[in-house]
Amino acid sequence: MEEKERITAAKADTDEELQEATLRPHTLDQYIGQNKATDNLKVFIEAAQQRGEPLDHVLFYGPPGLGKTTLAGIIANELGVDIRITSGPAIGRAGDLAAILTNLNQNDVLFIDEIHRLNRSVEEVLYSAMEDYALDIIIGKGPSARSIRLDLAKFTLIGATTRAGSLSAPLRDRFGVICKFENYEIKDLMQIIDRSARILGVEIDENSKKELARRSRGTPRVANRFLKRVRDFSQVKGNGKITPEITVMALEALGVDEMGLEHLDREMLRVIIERFGGGPVGINTIAAAIGEEQITLEDVYEPYLIQTGMLYRTQKGRMASELAYRHLGIPVPENMKLAAEEDESEQMSID
Ligand SMILES: Nc1ncnc2c1ncn2[C@@H]1O[C@H](COP(=O)(O)OP(=O)(O)OP(=O)(O)O)[C@@H](O)[C@H]1O
Ligand SMILES: [Mg+2]
Repeated sequence: MEEKERITAAKADTDEELQEATLRPHTLDQYIGQNKATDNLKVFIEAAQQRGEPLDHVLFYGPPGLGKTTLAGIIANELGVDIRITSGPAIGRAGDLAAILTNLNQNDVLFIDEIHRLNRSVEEVLYSAMEDYALDIIIGKGPSARSIRLDLAKFTLIGATTRAGSLSAPLRDRFGVICKFENYEIKDLMQIIDRSARILGVEIDENSKKELARRSRGTPRVANRFLKRVRDFSQVKGNGKITPEITVMALEALGVDEMGLEHLDREMLRVIIERFGGGPVGINTIAAAIGEEQITLEDVYEPYLIQTGMLYRTQKGRMASELAYRHLGIPVPENMKLAAEEDESEQMSID
């Protein structure tokens, strides 16, 4: 998908994954935000430790770049156990999973990223492993075939997925703890930027942190990426310190506007407004008009546009909001203003 080439892409590319290791927090105290998830996890981790048992299986779901892999590593660290990291597509056959499972030690963490992409036969092996800490293996073929049960060390499975809806019900039900990851607030992103800047050894003031945070689409990975690019600009065009001027200049040079939108985000809104009168218009029609794949629009562009309130998804199709008109500097149509006023007066009469 197109996603990787964008500076605001929430997914990491391979080089970035390697670099990310340096900026990853290692303890729960260093992990900023996602308090809903971490407050509960703290309790469960402590309880498991007191009992000397493995933590219950945990499922993380939410958009890319919000810190799922990071938090899995932290959990293992806090539990004082080893973590084995793999992903759904990497486990091709049931035998591959069996090999991984039989190599785990008591209370270890197994992290499976993109767990919705496990194939069926592998997933079935996982069921008994999760529930009974056992593997059922069939030996031999035909009438002489028999099944033997192999005991496993008690372990914790942490599964991560960007699409909770694609997970089969039997798999989902076997997780004792389910954590939803939310986009980060500006103040949390500012803290993350502050921490990363210290690790990278670059000076940055509060206003620059805020500016970076505002444009980072609620995503730490994007914030860290911006910070690195702005650092480059400050080194070459400034005196090495990150200032608001350098920040704005760098992000503008990268084509990122004050709301964190890039060219194609704006293009999508512009097409809806200028070619389809603001909508509603079907996503497939928009895709054809801007020459993008529908699935890319749905997975990559839309979520942030919807979150910012610039785009609505309705039964009849996508609609641009008043905010989208204003953001693009296009006059808001009269009927839209009227509709908004009516809404307001309706609300007032309800109060
Ligand atoms: N809460 C946090 N505090 C500090 N840094 C964070 C936090 N969450 C994420 N990060 C930073 O953001 C980067 C991306 O995080 P991570 O790789 O864990 O995301 P992810 O949710 O696993 O993404 P993906 O779905 O693409 O696998 C990491 O390098 C980490 O430094
Ligand atoms: Mg990850």
